[in-house]
Order: sequence, then C-alpha cells, then structure tokens
Amino acid sequence: MFLFSFLTGAARQKSAIKYCTVDIPEMPPCSFKPEEYKGMSKEQMMEIRKQNCNPMTTKITYLKKPVFIHQGYMQWLWDVDGKQYLDLFTGVATVSVGHCHPKVTTAIQKQLKKLWHTTNIYIHPELHEYCDKLAPYLPDPLKVIYLTNSGSEANELVMLMARLHTGNFDIITFRTSLFIYVICNGLYLLTYLSCPTPKSLSGWPLLTMCPDVFRGPWGGSYCRDSPVQSIRQCSCAQGACIANKHYIEQLEETFATSVPSQIAAFFGEPIQGMGGAVQYPKNYLKEAYKLVRQRGGICIADETGFGRTGSHFWGFQGHDVIPDMVTMAKGIGNGFPVGAVVTTPEIAASFVKASHFNTFGGNPLACAVASSVLDVRTDLLISIDVFEKFLIKHREPLPPEAMSEILEDIKDMGVLIGKGGVYGQTFRIQPPMCITREDVDFFLAVFNKAISGYTDRK
Ligand SMILES: Cc1ncc(COP(=O)(O)O)c(C=O)c1O
Repeated sequence: MFLFSFLTGAARQKSAIKYCTVDIPEMPPCSFKPEEYKGMSKEQMMEIRKQNCNPMTTKITYLKKPVFIHQGYMQWLWDVDGKQYLDLFTGVATVSVGHCHPKVTTAIQKQLKKLWHTTNIYIHPELHEYCDKLAPYLPDPLKVIYLTNSGSEANELVMLMARLHTGNFDIITFRTSLFIYVICNGLYLLTYLSCPTPKSLSGWPLLTMCPDVFRGPWGGSYCRDSPVQSIRQCSCAQGACIANKHYIEQLEETFATSVPSQIAAFFGEPIQGMGGAVQYPKNYLKEAYKLVRQRGGICIADETGFGRTGSHFWGFQGHDVIPDMVTMAKGIGNGFPVGAVVTTPEIAASFVKASHFNTFGGNPLACAVASSVLDVRTDLLISIDVFEKFLIKHREPLPPEAMSEILEDIKDMGVLIGKGGVYGQTFRIQPPMCITREDVDFFLAVFNKAISGYTDRK
C-alpha cells in the first residue's frame, strides 16, 4: 500500500463529510462569486446521460458521487449546488493557466467578434501570429509547426510523418504510454482480432518495457532527482545508473527480436501522466534516442510539460535531449481544443509526399486562444517541488476500492485530483499554474487527512 506523510499544517474547520467529521482543512479565501445555477436538474442530466450518452462517457467517471460542474475561475470550480472545489486535475492536465483566465477570455471574446473559422486554404493572421510566437519556445531545429485539433490527432500524424520521412514502418513506444491508451487500444484490438498478424504488421506501435524506476524491476533513490524512488536504496556510482543500464538492455532486446534493422520512430512522453506519473532514469532517453537514430528512426516526444515541470519549459529538456518531433495539446489551449506537431524543416518537407487536410487545425479562434495562453504562461512558471513533501513508504499499489475511497474523501473535502497508472493506483495532481502556496498547503492537509482517515478505518 502507498503511504504518504506530509510536512505541513493548515487551518482547519468543521464540516460534515462521510468519514472525517471534524478538523476539515479550511479552503484558502477566494473573492470570485460564481453565478447562481438555474439550469437543468441533476436528475435530468443523469437521465439524459443514461439514455442518450454513449456508455463510454460514464465509464471514465470514477467518482461514486459525481461532481456536476457549473462554473470555473482560475484554480476554482463550483458545482450546480454552489459547492466550491480547488481543481488540481484541471480537466486532465489541460487548464494550464486557470479556468476562464481573464486574459484568455478577453482574447477569445475579441476573436469571436472578428472571425471564428476559416481553413488553411486561405491565409489568416492568427495562425501565423501563433506559429511565430510558439517557435521560439522550441530549440533548433524544431521550428516547423502543424496545428491539429487534439493530441490524438497530432500523435496519429507523427506516425504518418515518421514513416514518410524514413521510409521505414516500425514504431516503438512504452507499454504504459498514453499513446497506447488513447490511440491504439481500440483500433489495435480491432486490427488484431480481425487480422491476427504479428502486432508490428498491424500498423500500430510495438511496445517495449517502460523504464519505470518506481514500479519497474529496477530503480533506486538516485535514478532521478525526484522523491518517488525514495524507498529503494541505490548503490550506483555517480553517473553509472544500473537501472538505466538494465532498461536500455530491454530496449536493445526489443530492437534485436521484434523489429527490422531500420525503424520509423520511437515515441514517448518525457514524463508519463496517465501511465502513473512515471519518470525514467536520468540518461534513459538520451541513450534510447541514440539507439533509435542508429536504426534510422525518428525520436518523438509526446509533451505535456509546457511550463509545468518547473525547471524546464518542456519535459524533454529535463532529459537533456532534443527530439526530432514534438507533439503537444491539452495545456496549449487551456481547454480550447488545439494541438500541434513541431518538427524539423527536413521532416516537415517529407510530409508533403502525402496529402493531409484537417478542417479545424489552425482555426483562427484556436490560434487566438493558444497565443494568449503563451502570453499568460510566461508570467506563471511555477516549480513543482512544492509537492516534494510527499514521503512514499511502500511500493505496492493501493487496491481500486482504497483509491476510490480516498479520492471520494478528497473530493468531499473540496479538492479535485485524478488517478492514473496501469492499475489506477497513482494519484494525479496536475494543478493549473496559478495555484498559490496556500492552495498547496490546503491540498496537503486534505490529502493527509484522507490518507490517515483511510488508514485509521483499516
Ligand atoms: C501525453 C498525452 N498525449 C496525448 C493525449 C491525447 O490528447 P487528446 O486527448 O487531446 O486527444 C493525452 C491525453 O490525455 C496525453 O496525456
């Protein structure tokens, strides 16, 4: 079981929730007043959900008592009954600068009055203004941008682009990549069931072992500059990580046994989110990229960093690597659907061997929003080390019922966080960059209370 303890204290108040009836941490003050909700009843929404929404909509709702969201402002959300929440999951790591951030809202309102939609058939300033603004954030030679509607679309496109550029077919990624959950799972299975060929021939990526230094077979306290490995001792000499060596051997074995000598691409998130907040050993990506390039492959980073990792703007910079292609979405639009593929001029040139058109990619409204997010973001870089107060004592995953109980308690105390990992065993805390230290202290007090409440009940 995971056990956490925190070095924090926060003001407390009384409130009635299921398990913890006293000493509920007090929310930091918020002067914003949400509108009174006058819309459809909760019962009606549930009925429509049952009758008219695909059951997949409900499958991903993991709270026992769902939250009916009405309004948001910066790090806060309000439900239809007026209950306030501190949102530390931000629509799955997406509302990067805060709900309805005033500068972003102003930008969208201005664009709404001017032009909502046209396509790349015509030339409009918003796309060019955004590309001009985004390109300097990326290192050379990553300067050529193609805009999409979502991260999934960007990820599908990079597979095509990598194959067009290299003339090779095989793509490798990690077993717990988000790529696999979102893009491949359904289609992969479908392809596999209808055409039982070796997986690599199905067109979808081949999976290699994820170098997860916390849950995987190898990992120690010095694999990363991060608290998540603290329970496994590490006796490696400085700069000679044994865990990294073993994980690289696994990748080499995948090359030797499962793909031709030349491959199209290697695809990975610099830090996995959905896979369970997984950080790879320090030199893993550097060595993996070298091996991939020796086999003619392109290295692709599926980014969700975008200013969130504290020390670097991009997650890949934390690995001291420069990918050949970067895909991004989520936080770049602060909740507005927009994604991007950024690559080198050479790889981009190969893309035109094929033809591709998307109706909404580079849409003026999306570009205006994404531009304003970049303007705001430069003021907001925070450091995630405020969360390094977590001390993890055990590695065994918490059972789903325990996760569910704890998440429910945290939600009832007014904080929204998510979960991830193969077994849904990891708490995902991905706050907007406008949170304050008081918010963090409040969350830690809530989390501490939920965890100790759970352990007391056991
Ligand atoms: C790293 C990563 N890549 C891609 C995606 C898919 O993006 P989208 O949901 O915009 O299609 C996600 C979504 O959770 C993600 O976390």
